[in-house]
Amino acid sequence: MPRTFVSRQIFPEYIKSIQDNTEAEIWEDELPPSREVLLEKVRGIDGLLCLLTDQIDAELMDTAGPQLKVISQIAVGYNNIDIPEATKRGIPVGYTPDVLTQTTADATLALMLAAGRRITESERAVRDGNWRTWHPLHFLGQDLYDATVGIIGMGRIGLEVAKRCLGFDANILYYDVAQRKDLESDYPLKFVDLDTIFRESDFVSIHTVLDETTHHLINAEALSKMKNNSILVNAARGPIVDHKALYNALSQGEIAGAGLDVTDPEPIPLDDPLLTLDNCVIVPHIASASVKTRYEMSRISATNLLNGIKGEKLLTCVNPEVYE
Ligand code: GLV
Repeated sequence: MPRTFVSRQIFPEYIKSIQDNTEAEIWEDELPPSREVLLEKVRGIDGLLCLLTDQIDAELMDTAGPQLKVISQIAVGYNNIDIPEATKRGIPVGYTPDVLTQTTADATLALMLAAGRRITESERAVRDGNWRTWHPLHFLGQDLYDATVGIIGMGRIGLEVAKRCLGFDANILYYDVAQRKDLESDYPLKFVDLDTIFRESDFVSIHTVLDETTHHLINAEALSKMKNNSILVNAARGPIVDHKALYNALSQGEIAGAGLDVTDPEPIPLDDPLLTLDNCVIVPHIASASVKTRYEMSRISATNLLNGIKGEKLLTCVNPEVYE
């Protein structure tokens, strides 16, 4: 039987199908295995099912050994995996795009509305006994209705966020490495440069990958260009935003609020100053966490793992050039 390591629990049906078809070791802990333990567990395996909290690099692939046939990630993002290194070795890398697009876009809207309309802050006030009366000037927030929404990264998730915002009668600006003329005939999207996104948007929502070009894309300079009423939302990757600069912008009223699904690092340390701010909504990287979507992500990642072991094509592969 081929050997596999699954670095966290996924839906039980798919754990079972992996156990039925391979000699599988499943990491049962809630927390990720340490680097040391992960290296020990991958020694001699044929297939690995991993998460964005596992660093998958040349050292790990070397430790696993030349029989390693597939790396199957349960996530759409794969900045934790050295893809060129996997490709060089002819190892297909699986991921879980598409099935999480709508759920992540829904969560992005939840963050826009929560930060814009001060939902978590006002909910805390209720629990703290600070709801004393209806007041014309209490908890005034920002409308998504009729707002200008600037989307950075008009990929699958960016487009679904745009479509939802159009339902709020918002105006959509977007920036991407290339203009999406293919989408512009179907949707009223306006391609602009990053400066225009920062200067004109009431909401800035990030849906780009994390790489060296997007690391700290939202820094002090970018934040200083943003409108004082604006809301920043990040449901992509934490390091795209410079947290120190964000803290300064939020505490000095340079921008009105932020909604973060992702932080840098994760989890956010309890002494991070962002946690002292009422105008910063932070949730623990849950944008794809609906029952239906995590079930589908389990199905696809398990299928990719088993396909890879059998030498069959993955359902969704980051580096299909390994098949050429
Ligand atoms: C989660 O962040 C993912 O990339 O799927």
